[in-house]
Amino acid sequence: MTFPSFSDLILNFSDSIILPVRRAQAPVVYPERSLKIQAINGFKDILPDSVVRWQHIEQRARDIFERFGMQEIRMPILEKTELFVRSIGEATDVVEKEMYTFADKGITMRPEATASIMRAFIEHGLHVQQPVQRLYTIGPMFRHERPQKGRLRQFHQLDAEIIGAVEAQVDAELIAMGQMLLDELGLSVSLELNSLGCPVCRPPFKERLVVYLERISTGLCEDCRRRTHTNPLRVLDCKKPTCRELAQDAPSLLEALCPDCDRHFHEVEEALTRLGIGFSRNRFMVRGLDYYTRTTFEFLTTDLGAQAAVGAGGRYDGLIEQLGGPALPGIGFAMGMERIALLLEQQGDAGLPAVGADIFLAALGPETIAPCSLLAHLLRREGVRAAMDYSSRSLKAQLKQANRQNARFTLIVGTDELARQQGTLRNMASQEQRPVDLSGSAAEQCQRLLRVLRA
Ligand code: HAM
Repeated sequence: MTFPSFSDLILNFSDSIILPVRRAQAPVVYPERSLKIQAINGFKDILPDSVVRWQHIEQRARDIFERFGMQEIRMPILEKTELFVRSIGEATDVVEKEMYTFADKGITMRPEATASIMRAFIEHGLHVQQPVQRLYTIGPMFRHERPQKGRLRQFHQLDAEIIGAVEAQVDAELIAMGQMLLDELGLSVSLELNSLGCPVCRPPFKERLVVYLERISTGLCEDCRRRTHTNPLRVLDCKKPTCRELAQDAPSLLEALCPDCDRHFHEVEEALTRLGIGFSRNRFMVRGLDYYTRTTFEFLTTDLGAQAAVGAGGRYDGLIEQLGGPALPGIGFAMGMERIALLLEQQGDAGLPAVGADIFLAALGPETIAPCSLLAHLLRREGVRAAMDYSSRSLKAQLKQANRQNARFTLIVGTDELARQQGTLRNMASQEQRPVDLSGSAAEQCQRLLRVLRA
């Protein structure tokens, strides 16, 4: 038996380890003009200028939700497909044609948050900790719809749910919370209200509705003819003019509610009126998800073209039990953040907080960069938003940059000034300038500047 020599080992070693590394370092040849890769249709970047708007919406929402005792919950984006099929319903548009499903793995990217919250609620037995749970979540949802203004394939919802309370007052409180959020964001919307009844009154109503729809079926669109047997209630909110006209004479569920649902609906209306929330009844509103019972509502705008619903929700008293949990009622809503952001933008972003640097340090010569960067670092440690440029560009260019960064002040430090232990502080709004003392240690300079910034 022969053993490899030491030099063989080195060779093998270099063959197997070093050479591949060298090979990997060989220059990569790019095609002369690479194709630009763009975001997928219906999936959108939210760029830094718009993020301010999004943060504002989120902050207002968290503030208001927490005033109502809501606690945040965060769930995964992927869930078992069955969760959505069983909750949203097999014969809904969302489940039939809009879900992003990995069929081989049996999982789906959540098209909405309610089902996921209910899954988490049941899985962790949250009702044991607290009989009434108030939960909210904020995040992306995914539906394969035709993209248009205010309608995306990845969109974001502010979702709020109250689980374990059956009282009509709770419906009104939740709706009032949604209204308060939209009011505080400065958006004017109209609120529409309906009741979808319960397993006692809805089935006989559906039978009457099917009889009516069969009678007028020749005038209905193809989708509605199909829905007559799969999901007849959906025919009532078809947007096609001929279907809308024919639906006018359809029987009304509001007039066919059982006594309990009827009382509940009237109590919701009374409570909303007491809270000063304006609303109108819309007996044609059925919502696109199957889990609803009793109260349903939508916050609508006329400023977004076809996508009128800024937010929507309702009661889902049988859902938790249907998903294998305790027999607990629930009610919630979700608002579309893209739609809210569009409305804010259309209104000129009134109410958005001004964001920008507190101070921009304009270092005007190579020697000034190091002291300015130390000063910027110390200021940041004190909580100041300090920006600076390291390229020693001209004063004009740096003032331009300070303006772009919305700086309140600019500290101008030139080489001569630095030698005299002085700088110039410019108020960017009034353009007033005054000398500042830059003597002493960087910590002392920082404290002096802080006094000016906080004055
Ligand atoms: P939804 O009506 O399907 O209800 O959606 C609620 C809101 O999300 C809509 O009013 C709209 O503002 C926004 N939205 C829906 N789809 C899109 C999209 N493709 N692009 C942009 N925005 C969209 C639900 O999702 C229920 N989970 C609400 C709920 C919570 N019900 C009870 N609790």
